[in-house]
Amino acid sequence: MQPDPFDEFFRHAPPTWGLEPIREAWCALGPRYDVNQWRLPLPPWVHRSYDYGGAQAWDMLRHDLALANDRQPFCIYLHVPFCSRKCGFCDSYSFKLGAHIPERIAGYVERLCYELQLWSAQGSLSRRPVSTVHLGGGTPTYLGEAALAQVIACCKACFATSPATEWALESTVEALTPGMIETMHALGFRRLHLGVQSLQDEVRTIIGRRRPAAEALERIAATLARGWIVSVDLVCGLPAQTLTGFVGDIEALIAAGVNGFSLYELLIYPQNRRWAERWGLTRRDHLTNYFTFMAGAQTLSAHGYTKNLFNHWADARDENIYFTFPTRQEDLLAVGTIADGVFGDFHYRHPPYTPYLKAACGGLPGLEGGLRRTAFESWLQPLRTRVLSGHFDARQVPALLDEWQAHGLITCDAGGAHLTNSGSWFAGNMVHELTELLRPVFAGQVYSG
Ligand SMILES: C[S@@+](CC[C@H](N)C(=O)[O-])C[C@H]1O[C@@H](n2cnc3c(N)ncnc32)[C@H](O)[C@@H]1O
Ligand code: SF4
Repeated sequence: MQPDPFDEFFRHAPPTWGLEPIREAWCALGPRYDVNQWRLPLPPWVHRSYDYGGAQAWDMLRHDLALANDRQPFCIYLHVPFCSRKCGFCDSYSFKLGAHIPERIAGYVERLCYELQLWSAQGSLSRRPVSTVHLGGGTPTYLGEAALAQVIACCKACFATSPATEWALESTVEALTPGMIETMHALGFRRLHLGVQSLQDEVRTIIGRRRPAAEALERIAATLARGWIVSVDLVCGLPAQTLTGFVGDIEALIAAGVNGFSLYELLIYPQNRRWAERWGLTRRDHLTNYFTFMAGAQTLSAHGYTKNLFNHWADARDENIYFTFPTRQEDLLAVGTIADGVFGDFHYRHPPYTPYLKAACGGLPGLEGGLRRTAFESWLQPLRTRVLSGHFDARQVPALLDEWQAHGLITCDAGGAHLTNSGSWFAGNMVHELTELLRPVFAGQVYSG
């Protein structure tokens, strides 16, 4: 007889973990929700091509911005693609600068500032409230203190940031030096997304982290002591990672006072496939990652962390303003390589590094293309966003509700439907089902009048 995969996987787990809810969640999935077939929620241009090329998209955006409400808040996202090295496991758009590093950083910062200035001259954008400025990457702290200060000064000069604006960035432990923490604090940063990935030093070495786990905990303590909100990224499915190690990492980070946790399963794309092959990960069964993810998520739920995004667990202080901007119907000004933004129903995106540097000049922000949401996409957008945020009005999808509840993806109460931890794994599948179910409903409404 084949051993039961659940018993097999959790055979060394301490009885205090209370594993029954995880077994129940797994059993409830049945054949309909296959752990190996989970889907990522993807942006619109993955499903269809742009409606407009970069220059035309810019014309559309300028037209829309001239008519936009000058009191509507928006977020700013700045992408910095540089890192001190390219980690083998990484699927982000990021790379190591081989030569002329100071010149290339200076050149990129110049392009970012050029773009920020162009946007700020459009309509009332320079007067509209800015809810958050988030720098992602790559590793924005790799810019160094002076270049970071230059970009932030430009943002402040171009837009109506205020004491209410949240300043946030993503960093590795390595690039978050004490000097950088001080500079960031002086610039107004009060939110950090730290790429911890794992606290197990063996795993850290394999994935190319040069600093030991103890240093990650030191940096967390230093930033929490300054009153920052600290969120960490953890990945399950990394080589040499153990179940007790993953859950132990979460417990240690909770004990350290971390406010938010983003949990990812290791994704394998062409850019990290060779590394994944080397570690024998390409023909993996996702079930062990699902169990690991569930054990981590259950630990977070048991400590009172709640979801405000499908893969993010937050305490009461962590409002996660950038990730949750669509729930507040805010716009997103995105600047820099591959950054994608949205104003109203218009989505746009930037190209990678070389074409971006070439295109961001002569009065153009260097866009790759854009598309306007269709009437159906706009109609669906609020509900889609709510599902991905973990809480939604259950009355809007009665046909799926029973299915999702029966399969343990949601629970319902007077406040509506809430994604369970198992639902977090399948959030992309749920959005897909929602889209397929509601497309004919929308068409029928339009047809009938
Ligand atoms: C844009 S990266 C920037 C983080 C920062 N440079 C660092 O390494 O700490 C944001 C997060 O994406 C996650 N990530 C990167 N590669 C991944 C992959 N192949 N699968 C799943 N998550 C990944 C990591 O958790 C990482 O912290
Ligand atoms: S994991 Fe972070 S540091 Fe490593 S290559 Fe990716 S973005 Fe850069």
